[in-house]
Amino acid sequence: MIQLQNVYKEYGGRPALVNINLSIGLGEFAFLVGPSGAGKSTLMRLLYREETPNRGTVMIGGINLTRLTNKQVPLLRRRLGIVFQDYKLLASKTVFENVAYILRALGVPENEVQRRVSSALCVVNLEDKSQDFPDELSGGEQQRVGIARAIVNGPPVLLADEPTGNLDPNTSLEIVQLLERISQRGTTVLISTHDQLIVNALRRRVISLSKGQIVSDVDSGLYELEAKS
Ligand SMILES: Nc1ncnc2c1ncn2[C@@H]1O[C@H](COP(=O)(O)OP(=O)(O)OP(=O)(O)O)[C@@H](O)[C@H]1O
Ligand SMILES: [Mg+2]
Repeated sequence: MIQLQNVYKEYGGRPALVNINLSIGLGEFAFLVGPSGAGKSTLMRLLYREETPNRGTVMIGGINLTRLTNKQVPLLRRRLGIVFQDYKLLASKTVFENVAYILRALGVPENEVQRRVSSALCVVNLEDKSQDFPDELSGGEQQRVGIARAIVNGPPVLLADEPTGNLDPNTSLEIVQLLERISQRGTTVLISTHDQLIVNALRRRVISLSKGQIVSDVDSGLYELEAKS
């Protein structure tokens, strides 16, 4: 579902990702870990084509992102759910409207919007807060809205860059367990994090980046302390 081949990315002559080869299958769940500056966000940005690599190939669901024209980027984004550390919710819109926004922009009929938004809010267990505004919610609830918004269009791939970066340990664990449940429904999920607690609690695939390179990639892995230095 996600494939990177010999990917190299630099910023102003300084390498951020070096010779990345990575394959993540349909419905797989994986953590991308590594210290600050290791290249996690850069890799994520290549996957949603916020950036393009200097060399190498990035493929998602058979789409070659390196050949995508700017006009085709919205087509890719519709097949991706993206969850951000700072939620990026629209403050003037209710929970329901935040989740419905993309569907309405795509011209989805209103009865279908109602059905899909209710279903997404049910997955994140926020049906009773649908008329609240983001600033009336806790951080964990706001992130659950962010997740509902990311899955409302039924994307095959969900990308989350530091989704628990602003949350306390218990709430962080709830959020990654929610993302794990979503992957069990067939969605490929990639989560970047430097939160050792959540990685070690779940014991799933762990891809470790250090200085722009993949230094380990293990199933049922732990966030090894060595990988932090
Ligand atoms: N837009 C940019 N312009 C210049 N350099 C950048 C840019 N984005 C990232 N970098 C550099 O690329 C390297 C990797 O950064 P990246 O943000 O991918 O790391 P990260 O693993 O996400 O770190 P963190 O855990 O702090 O979020 C760093 O050296 C960073 O300074
Ligand atoms: Mg980052």
